[in-house]
Amino acid sequence: MLRVGIIGLGFIGQVHYHAYEALKGEVKIAAVCDIERSRLEQAGGISGNIGGAQQKLNLDAVALYTDAAKMLAEQKLDIVSICLPTYLHAKYAIMALQAGVNVFCEKPMAIDPAECDTIIAAAEASGRELQVGHVIRFWPEFVWARQAMLEGAYGKLLAAHFQRLSQTPTWSWQNWLLDGDKSGGAALDLHIHDADFVQYLLGMPRAVYSCAYCGPSKEADHIATQYLYDGDVVVTGVGGWMMTSAFGFRQAFDMAFEDASVVYDATRTPSLQVFPRTGDPFAPEVTADSAYNIEIAYFVRKVAGQKLPEIITPFESRESVRLVLAEKKSAQTKRVVAL
Ligand SMILES: NC(=O)c1ccc[n+]([C@@H]2O[C@H](COP(=O)([O-])OP(=O)(O)OC[C@H]3O[C@@H](n4cnc5c(N)ncnc54)[C@H](O)[C@@H]3O)[C@@H](O)[C@H]2O)c1
Repeated sequence: MLRVGIIGLGFIGQVHYHAYEALKGEVKIAAVCDIERSRLEQAGGISGNIGGAQQKLNLDAVALYTDAAKMLAEQKLDIVSICLPTYLHAKYAIMALQAGVNVFCEKPMAIDPAECDTIIAAAEASGRELQVGHVIRFWPEFVWARQAMLEGAYGKLLAAHFQRLSQTPTWSWQNWLLDGDKSGGAALDLHIHDADFVQYLLGMPRAVYSCAYCGPSKEADHIATQYLYDGDVVVTGVGGWMMTSAFGFRQAFDMAFEDASVVYDATRTPSLQVFPRTGDPFAPEVTADSAYNIEIAYFVRKVAGQKLPEIITPFESRESVRLVLAEKKSAQTKRVVAL
């Protein structure tokens, strides 16, 4: 039984809690840490843009801490989830790795590639597992579409467009999301999900060309990017948090293959549809399991020693940060930025 700790019990910390809870028999949630005691006492009900408020957590059998260093010193943990604001990822991920614990760190890995490198170096020195929460690589509809591309089921991929739009997040701890120095703005916090998926799908582009609107974080809070590849595939992405609260949240993609259009929109039912060049449209069946549960189960089993196909590496996670920073630079300079 692997002993798990969670640092940061805000929105995503609760999602991690439920994902570990679903792995009863494989893990025990031994300890949870949040700097705000009230968050431990309140234990749940904090909302974010995916899935709204979470269920209450039962922390009766869990050791509670407000100091992560104390938790790491007192608890013999096998796994720790870093669910802290982005500007704190490097400090606490390194602290946990140096304590000999396997680390699951939320995305983005850190605020810039140099910080990412310090985490990767700590993981290499400790010999422990490190996974970054690029959950879209595990999201059933995205996994299905990538598989269709790899199998060539509908011929060549001609074009792909990704969209991730959210209401302005006003719910984070001390409003850190709307402080660009702490979050990197919507480009680094939100749009990175799609930038990372583009990298997963097609590798790093040779260059990017972007434009952006600087919103309340004083960083790119709505960004539109062309990912430039050798060859003629057209890849674009739009992400931002300048939508109204009445709009809420939407993640979507459209993929044009030679022989079919594959369309996903999380706000529709069915969310994933295939429109073949000949024949009737259909909705592929994908698992209804939460992608968060799937990615955390993958990490737990890797730590437990199972040989699993490689889905995400720390270096790729670092490259996704580099990719988004190149997009932001392109938007600032109004020039194509080479990678
Ligand atoms: N994978 C996803 O889909 C997804 C979704 C949302 C957030 N995230 C990422 O997860 C991270 C956290 O985001 P969030 O929305 O949960 O933020 P949040 O503001 O809801 O929660 C952050 C929590 O960290 C706690 N905290 C702050 N400093 C601390 C410290 N030094 N020690 C212990 N606790 C501390 C706060 O009290 C708060 O409870 C971010 O990097 C974000 O980008 C990922």
